[in-house]
Amino acid sequence: MPHTNQMPQEEGIDHSLSLLREGYLYILNRRHSFNSDIFETRLLGKKAICMGGKEAAEVFYDTDKFNRQDAAPNRVVQTLFGKNGVQALDGQPHKHRKEMFMSIMSPNEIEKLTAITKKQWELAVDKWEQMDKVILYEEAQEIMCRTACEWAGVPVQEDEVKGLTKDLGAMFESAASIGPSHWLGRNARNQVEKWIGELIEKVRAKEVNPPENSTLHRFAWHRDLEGNLLDLETAAVEVINILRPIVAIAIFINFTALAVYHYPEERKKLESGEDKYAQMFVQEVRRFYPFFPFVVALVKKEFTWKSYKFEEGTLTLLDIYGTNHDPKIWDNPEVFNPDRFAKWDGSPFNFIPQGGGDYFMGHRCAGEWVTIEVMKVNLDYLANRIDYEVPDQDLSFSMVSMPSIPHSKVVIKNVKRRIY
Ligand code: HEM
Repeated sequence: MPHTNQMPQEEGIDHSLSLLREGYLYILNRRHSFNSDIFETRLLGKKAICMGGKEAAEVFYDTDKFNRQDAAPNRVVQTLFGKNGVQALDGQPHKHRKEMFMSIMSPNEIEKLTAITKKQWELAVDKWEQMDKVILYEEAQEIMCRTACEWAGVPVQEDEVKGLTKDLGAMFESAASIGPSHWLGRNARNQVEKWIGELIEKVRAKEVNPPENSTLHRFAWHRDLEGNLLDLETAAVEVINILRPIVAIAIFINFTALAVYHYPEERKKLESGEDKYAQMFVQEVRRFYPFFPFVVALVKKEFTWKSYKFEEGTLTLLDIYGTNHDPKIWDNPEVFNPDRFAKWDGSPFNFIPQGGGDYFMGHRCAGEWVTIEVMKVNLDYLANRIDYEVPDQDLSFSMVSMPSIPHSKVVIKNVKRRIY
C-alpha cells in the first residue's frame, strides 16, 4: 500500500455558497491560502477535490483516472450542455462522437467560417454606421449567430434570427444562475432542440439538403458505434453544441474590445497586420479575462497522486481560470501582455482557457481552433478596420457572475469604416 497524506481540507458542512460568492477566484483563493494546488472541500452536500496548475491539469486529463458521465450538475445539463451530449461520454463512445466534431474542424472548413465571419462583420458595420449607439455584446451575438448558422448549414429566416440569437445566448448565460434566468435558459434549450430536431428529420427525409461537409449534414447522418443514426434529440443537442458556443464567442468579442481600448500600445502593434501579433493578442485575451471558471469530472477508480488518495466517484474540479493566472506558470499573471506568448512552450496543460489535453482522446474544446481564428477576424475589425468612440460607461466586469460580461456590454458610438 502506498503511503498517503490527508489533503488540505476546507472545514465546514458545505461550501457551495462560497463558490457562488467567490466565483472565478474560489479555487485560486484557497490554493493561495492552503499554499497547495490541491485541497478537499464539500460542494452540493458531497466531498469534492479542487485542484489547479499544470501538473493537476495533466492528471485531470488522464482518461484512465477520470470520467465525465454524471459529473456535471443537472442545472448545467439542462441549460448549457443538453442531455446525452459529447461532454458526458467516456471511453470509446466519447472518442467516436468526438471524431464527428473534429471532422468539421479541417483547415478548409475553418477558412469558410472566417470568410463568413468577415462577411457578417461587413454587413454589421454597414448597419452600425447608421446607428446612434451600438451595444457591442448584443450585436456581436447576432453576428456570431448568423455566422454559426450559415457555416453549420442551418437555414434561418430573417425574422427568426433575433429570437434564435437570444435563445442560444440564454443557454450559456443561465447555466450558473438561479430563478427566472435559469428557467429562461431551460425553455430556450427545449425550443431550439425541438426546432433543430425537426430540421434533422427533414435532412434525413431529403427535404432539406445542407452542404455535404456542414455540421447539419454530418451530424444528421452520423452513425454510432452500433451503426445507428443518433436519435433526434441527441443529434439536435450536438448541432447546438456547435451553434451555442460560436454565439458565446461574443463574450470574447467584448473582452477583445476592452483590451483594444485599455491597452493602446498593444493595439498599435496590430497595425502591421502581421498574424503573429494578432495570434498573441488573442491568446492573451483568452488567458487574461474570465470565461470558464473550472471543469468537472468524477474519479473513475481509486488512485494515489502526490501521496493524496482520490476515492472512486469523488467530484473533482480543475481550476481553469486559476491555471491561466498561476504565478508558477505566468510571470505577472495580472498584467495584460500578449508578448508573453512569444515564449510560451505550447504545453497542452499550462494554458487551458478551453480545457487541456488532447482534442481527440479527451474533452478539450472541439472549437478551440475555430475560436482563435474567428477571434482574429473580430480583433482585426475592432483594432484596424473601424473607428469608433467609447463613451463613458461601466466597463468593469464581475469576478463572480459566470459567465462574466462587462457591465455596460460595451457601448460604442460613431462607428465609421476606415478607408485605406
Ligand atoms: C467561446 C469560447 C469558448 C470557450 C471559452 C470554450 C470552452 C470550453 C471548455 C472549457 C470546454 C470543456 C473542456 C473539458 O471538459 O475539459 C469545452 C468543450 C467543448 N467545446 Fe468549447 N469553448 C468555446 C468555444 C467553442 C466553439 C466555438 C465550439 C464549436 C464550434 C465549441 C465546442 C465544444 C465542444 C463540442 C466541447 C465538448 C468537448 C468534449 O467533451 O469532448 N466550443 N469548451
